[in-house]
Amino acid sequence: MYGEDTLPDLLPKAEEQPSQGMGDALQTNLFNVMLNRRSQRKFENKEVEEWKLEMIYAAADTAPTAGGFQGFKIYNVKNSEAKLKLVGAANGQPYVNAPVVLVFCMDPSKVKMNFPDHILKKFSLQDATLSAAYAQLAAHALGLSSVWIGMIDEEKVMNALAIDLVPSSILCIGYPQKMLQPKPKRSLKELIHDI
Ligand SMILES: Cc1cc2nc3c(=O)[nH]c(=O)nc-3n(C[C@H](O)[C@H](O)[C@H](O)COP(=O)(O)O)c2cc1C
Repeated sequence: MYGEDTLPDLLPKAEEQPSQGMGDALQTNLFNVMLNRRSQRKFENKEVEEWKLEMIYAAADTAPTAGGFQGFKIYNVKNSEAKLKLVGAANGQPYVNAPVVLVFCMDPSKVKMNFPDHILKKFSLQDATLSAAYAQLAAHALGLSSVWIGMIDEEKVMNALAIDLVPSSILCIGYPQKMLQPKPKRSLKELIHDI
């Protein structure tokens, strides 16, 4: 199934021009998006269009969630003081002060299933994580770049935003100063273990 003969088709193709319009984005090949996405920590000082942001939200909202209860919430941090506080909450990582800063939070209270609390928390962590991953791919498909921030002090993030939901990750998005080349990954043989 993962023989060498199937690999060439999966290699990243040369990055196409960033999408200019919604039509372009809707025709974007998912595999190209996945294979070409890179973490970006240097953003242009350029605003992200509202329609792109809305498409990112819509993509996040398509992610599967436990029981379909959508146990997560996204905060779009626009306030510049709050963004600076988030840099502090993320171990001083300066690029957290990005054009778009989305904080993905767990909301286990939305997961109306008859399971113990620790299971509901686990579900909401997975819901929030998956939705952030979908948002990250959508951002790339729209000609934007992003970096996933997992190195956060949850309590400091909650204080910075005055929220009572626990954050799982922060997604920083913007126009890249320079598009990065795809990174080589381990071979699929190393990744997949048939049992
Ligand atoms: C769970 C998780 C936590 C991460 N935390 C951070 C972080 O705090 N700061 C950062 O700069 N990058 C962070 N990253 C991004 C990774 O460093 C990056 O995805 C990895 O080096 C692979 O590079 P690529 O995304 O360009 O393929 C995180 C990624 C994941 C999935």
